[in-house]
Amino acid sequence: MAHYMVRGGNPLSGEVEIAGAKNAALGILAASVMTNETVTIENIPDVSDIRAILNAIEEIGAHVERLDRHSCRINGSGISSQAVVDNDYVRKIRGSYYLIGSLLGRHRRAAVALPGGCNIGLRPIDQHIKGFRALGADVYLAPPGMVVAEAEVLRGAHIYMDVVSVGATINIMMASVMAEGTTTIENAAKEPHVVDTANFLNSMGANIKGAGTDVIRIKGVQKLHGTTYSIIPDQIEAGTFMFAAAATRGDVLIKNVIPKHLEFLTAKLTEIGCQIHESDDEVRVVATKRLGATNAKTLPYPGFPTDMQPQITVLLGLSNGVSIITESIFENRFKYVDELTKMGASIRVEGNTAIITGVGKYTGANLSSPDLRAGAALVIAALAAEGVSEIYDIHYIERGYEDFPEKLRGLGAEIERVDTDQDRRRFSFKIV
Ligand code: EPZ
Repeated sequence: MAHYMVRGGNPLSGEVEIAGAKNAALGILAASVMTNETVTIENIPDVSDIRAILNAIEEIGAHVERLDRHSCRINGSGISSQAVVDNDYVRKIRGSYYLIGSLLGRHRRAAVALPGGCNIGLRPIDQHIKGFRALGADVYLAPPGMVVAEAEVLRGAHIYMDVVSVGATINIMMASVMAEGTTTIENAAKEPHVVDTANFLNSMGANIKGAGTDVIRIKGVQKLHGTTYSIIPDQIEAGTFMFAAAATRGDVLIKNVIPKHLEFLTAKLTEIGCQIHESDDEVRVVATKRLGATNAKTLPYPGFPTDMQPQITVLLGLSNGVSIITESIFENRFKYVDELTKMGASIRVEGNTAIITGVGKYTGANLSSPDLRAGAALVIAALAAEGVSEIYDIHYIERGYEDFPEKLRGLGAEIERVDTDQDRRRFSFKIV
């Protein structure tokens, strides 16, 4: 079975280029079929969740032309109002729920298989449905596990979100851009990918104001038009490399980032003793000594992101002192702690809190990735550990990290994606 083999111990050093943001790309690609005109999108990350959504829009009639590895031209004029979005891949990814908002907004009808995604909690979509209904849609479940949303007319509405939800905010924005009148979303999510999707829709002729604050106003327009748009860099991929640099006591220049989107991470790393140097679109992380302890609680943006919770826990597991990490977004996001324990970590989980007593070192072990970000965090642990680790279930990691082993090797890490026993033996017996 394909898995990663990692020989730990090398401080990461050098430069790494960050790809486009997966979670922005999912919204933007879904929105790209809301016009009959052609849309060109650049800086798309080449990861499996993105391939799944591109495949989903192609299957329902969009013309997708790959211009190069990171750009494509999309024309959604071939999609009919009777389109049904359903295949095995769509059912596995979370971002497919954006096709409910985009098809409902464009055709007044969407039929989309219930979304999957990482198993990190209950992840209901009640807020999405509440928003669609407020706009006048009839929303119901139909076999086999489909969400159907349909409306004669969509009318702007005042929608107060009961929880801050990235997915519901983006979905309601898409459903309302061509509704009659004005929609107001209160208690909206402020994540950079919400802003990026709003900017993309505005570049297609939408009238969205306030994205990035907690009140978003959308004035309905008659139709959207073609555009060319470049997706923002992935803040979580950038953060993952920042924490990998810190955990291995390395010196890494992370390129193609928006430092403002990384402020919460920069602040925590500085607090525990890293040196951070920022410029316009780069951030350099230098860690020369064992880092200190701290506490953090995951919160919606601009708070500490839940998608960086496993990575900070891995880092603090090696720091000097006791740290407390509280997960307040998803209820099932500490599953990787059992794996870290196999490496010698001393972490006790009580409810949504992890109490971490830093240890001097991790030791290589056989590990299984429970989800995307936890998988990446286990790779960081393996890079910092003494000895060889084998990390399984890497299909999770491949959902969201482009060329992860290649980029890490570029920084001096010893990591290989091995497919066969022969590859495995070759890695194990490599003289170091
Ligand atoms: C998005 O998930 C991201 N996924 C997640 O990234 C990320 O962890 C999460 O936002 C939080 O930042 C995508 O963008 C595809 P939410 P999403 O709706 O939209 C509750 C990764 O690793 N909620 O903001 O599913 C929910 O249960 C992934 O890249 C409701 O109660 O997250 C959670 O507690 C994992 N009802 C909280 O809100 C709803 O209708 C935030 O969820 C919707 C959400």
